[in-house]
Amino acid sequence: MTARIKTQLAHAAGFAYVQKTGTRSRGASELALHCDQVALSQLAQRHGTPLYVYSATAIRDRLASFQAAFRGVPHTICYSVKANSNLHLLRLLARSGCGFDVVSGGELERVLAAHRASATRVVFSGVGKTRDEITAAIKARILLFNIESESELQLLADCAARLRTVARVALRVNPDVAAETHPYISTGLHAHKFGVPIREARRLYARIAESTHLKAAGVSVHIGSQITDVAPFAETMSRVAELVRELRNDGHTLDYVDAGGGLGISYRRPTPADPSTQVDFSDQVAAYARAVTAPLRGLNIHLLLEPGRSIVGAAGALITQVIYRKANGGKRFVIVDAAMNDLIRPALYGAYHEIIPLQRSANTDAPLETVDIVGPVCETGDFFARDRALPNVKECDLLAILDAGAYGMALASNYNTRPRPAEILVSGKSAKVIRRRETIADLLRPER
Ligand code: LLP
Repeated sequence: MTARIKTQLAHAAGFAYVQKTGTRSRGASELALHCDQVALSQLAQRHGTPLYVYSATAIRDRLASFQAAFRGVPHTICYSVKANSNLHLLRLLARSGCGFDVVSGGELERVLAAHRASATRVVFSGVGKTRDEITAAIKARILLFNIESESELQLLADCAARLRTVARVALRVNPDVAAETHPYISTGLHAHKFGVPIREARRLYARIAESTHLKAAGVSVHIGSQITDVAPFAETMSRVAELVRELRNDGHTLDYVDAGGGLGISYRRPTPADPSTQVDFSDQVAAYARAVTAPLRGLNIHLLLEPGRSIVGAAGALITQVIYRKANGGKRFVIVDAAMNDLIRPALYGAYHEIIPLQRSANTDAPLETVDIVGPVCETGDFFARDRALPNVKECDLLAILDAGAYGMALASNYNTRPRPAEILVSGKSAKVIRRRETIADLLRPER
């Protein structure tokens, strides 16, 4: 290996091609896709496919970019567990200083199992928290309940009274701001089920003040996910800042503003064939930080942030093997061993994911062909890409579906009685299994 490639590798975070040793001298040099310093083909060989692979370095880098962008204001990053809830990732994030945003008793259990001490840095969001979930969260002494309705406020007061304690509350207000994203993941309009209308907030805060078991601690908001334009965040925070001023005038002492999550990532790479050419994440997050913090200036508030996708999305890939090729009429299909049950985003949202081969020639003039990349599940919606230009792939070749770290494994199912993939965490040169591949026996056990 040349010294240049060695240094390249030493700095590689996430997914990048590395020239295979000795191939340059034989003419067309070959490139091999790596995660950090580990060749993905080796992982596929050892652990089988489909396989989720995450880069610990990329996750730490992204978190560090967040922390740097918000360093000017007191803040806590409460990673949104729903994006990827693997215990090992939660532990990695907790050790790097993260708190957590959870939306169920199950997610809270995961945080407690991964890093018990993080309980005091947990915010609990969601429109349908049950009595049991609320009770468990009070007992765990979480930081904040993001409350989404008057009925829920009542139930929280009731649970806190039974436990003879006081629960800290932020109302999740619905700012009625439109953000351009897929309609299924937009949440900030009054037509959506989330939050309480911002104009009703003062009345509800007055109710909180009347309860001996509730303490108004902040205001929370979340307008949607995969939002790439920062303007809606700025607009939302202006409305929240105005509300905080009004509420303080009313006599409430509010310490926190929870800005939610939602910062999008660039699923389309500037140069698809080279995954290392990403839009610079620190620039993106810096623009986001300016949009969020500017309206809050002078309010002396502790900011909570709930990023999910922007921390783990680009740090994960789904590795899959080509089973068959076939042509129906003029259309060419590449049938891979991953399916919509492993990664549902294309089927559910029509989402775009870059797909690249694990081995390719360094010659960028190599011919491309237009194919559909589909899985084995018996639904036409089971596709990863349609009419995609790809270098010619053969049966048994390995492909990487990029940017699958967020809402990939978290939304995976056992549809068609397909065991879910194993998950591997790579850190520098080392790779460890952080979830073993499911077996058919795992799936049948609850029905025996
Ligand atoms: N906070 C709340 C209250 C949320 O509802 C969400 C996401 C987040 C934070 C994290 O948002 P992020 O930073 O990851 O955008 N399955 C969809 C995304 C659903 C997002 C749901 N809520 C997808 O694959 O695109």
